[in-house]
Amino acid sequence: MKRDQSPVLPGDGTTDYARYMRTDELLGLQRRPEEMLHRDELLFQVVHQSAELWLKLAEAELTLAVTRTAAADPAAAASLLARATLAVRLVTDQLEMFRHLSPVDFQAMQPALGNGSGAESPGWRRVTALSRQLGRAFAEHLTARGVTLTALPPTDPTHRLAEAMVDWDEQVSRWRVRHYQVALSVGGHAADGSPGSPATVLAKLIGHRFFPELRPPRSDTGIPAAAHSRIAEA
Ligand code: HEM
Repeated sequence: MKRDQSPVLPGDGTTDYARYMRTDELLGLQRRPEEMLHRDELLFQVVHQSAELWLKLAEAELTLAVTRTAAADPAAAASLLARATLAVRLVTDQLEMFRHLSPVDFQAMQPALGNGSGAESPGWRRVTALSRQLGRAFAEHLTARGVTLTALPPTDPTHRLAEAMVDWDEQVSRWRVRHYQVALSVGGHAADGSPGSPATVLAKLIGHRFFPELRPPRSDTGIPAAAHSRIAEA
């Protein structure tokens, strides 16, 4: 028997899929071809808009991770944080689409972007603010338990949360590495070391960690921590 596909949900779409996913609104959020300065604006907007959606999910997971940490439930916080980390990994993977955007084509669309910069991303700002909140909640959790991390076995939920926090830090840094490469190759920013230039600022941020006190002596890239700081300073 054929499945009944007539819509039952409220809304304007012609199907329940369209009504629930709001596809009409979603797919209307990109500039129409006749508005575009360059056809690659679609590629550019899709990468950025989907990054904002993944960051929205990361923000929701981080918000609850902070709450669960404050409520002395590190196991739940670690699972939530792992979701946020995966969301940022997907945001990192999406940067690969910029392999198909040439610097010349990017320059052609730049007037359409006004003075806009990804540095103004609302999702990214909220996610970084929440990371700092998580660091504070975790420190308070350790104090409330009256333990130090090194005294805990690796199987302890608080230890697991610390590992998830290191994973988060590493993933944010991996995003920054890839993003730095994109800024150079697509944005045409020169890595000439001039103080305060966009390339210098982005390179420095690669070495930033929200939870430096949780870092293992060697990162998962196999690079000793001291070399990491030298890269960040370069
Ligand atoms: C062609 C693609 C891109 C280029 C050329 C580019 C370039 C840049 C540059 C030059 C900066 C330094 C600040 C400035 O001068 O505005 C910056 C910062 C930033 N961009 Fe991008 N970007 C691109 C894509 C993205 C995407 C897809 C995102 C995702 C939301 C993003 C998020 C950010 C963030 C959060 C910063 C602040 C630095 C940080 O926290 O690491 N950018 N970008």
